[in-house]
Amino acid sequence: MDYLKQLNWRYATKRMNKKTVPQNKIDNILEAIRLSPSSMGLQPYTVVVIEDEAVRAKMLPAIYNQPQIVEGSHVLVFAVWDGITPEQVQTFIKQIAMEREIPEKSLDGFKNMILGFISQKEKDDLINWNAKQAYIALGTGMVAAALEEVDATPMEGFDPQALDQLLKLKEKGLKSVAILALGYRDSDEDKLAQLKKVRRPKEEFFLKIDSVN
Ligand SMILES: Cc1cc2nc3c(=O)[nH]c(=O)nc-3n(C[C@H](O)[C@H](O)[C@H](O)COP(=O)(O)O)c2cc1C
Repeated sequence: MDYLKQLNWRYATKRMNKKTVPQNKIDNILEAIRLSPSSMGLQPYTVVVIEDEAVRAKMLPAIYNQPQIVEGSHVLVFAVWDGITPEQVQTFIKQIAMEREIPEKSLDGFKNMILGFISQKEKDDLINWNAKQAYIALGTGMVAAALEEVDATPMEGFDPQALDQLLKLKEKGLKSVAILALGYRDSDEDKLAQLKKVRRPKEEFFLKIDSVN
């Protein structure tokens, strides 16, 4: 597969044609997202998957009526943990010990490092840090979708409080930070579909440093 061709093909789709993305493609995109790296490996976010048409219709006002929400077939909401608790760190450590079949005690140094890190941060800083990790997964999801020839729209244009209330995310200790709508482009309706991709020139975008004093 020519992945650069696919990355040129992808664009933030504004109008979709209501065709459903097959489950195997959704599963692959979700798995790519799950495989995303995160700092210390904590994955401090949950990806909420919404396929139900009625639920997506109810989400529309909170997402400022962006039509991809209902014209696509799936919506992924990247929702970060509302902070990080020592219990969540403990669960993470337990999982590593179990999956790698090593004593939990051998991870004490690592655990204390994470606990030290979180204890130095305010809750809002932790939420921001969690969001940075979630955005890496958002990027992975966009690339995976392009490789699956599925259209996708990353979205920050929504009212997180309204969306969290509708999806009852606060009760789950989560806060929405970004959305990925998945579906297929409607090339007739979407004026952006044929437009040339615009990116900053390579000479300006990349800064090559060959020596330092
Ligand atoms: C984090 C993020 C948030 C975005 N939010 C929206 C959005 O709410 N609605 C939308 O139509 N496009 C949104 N976009 C799409 C960008 O406008 C688009 O990616 C950018 O203009 C580059 O164009 P391209 O992705 O089509 O190549 C968002 C993109 C990113 C990465």
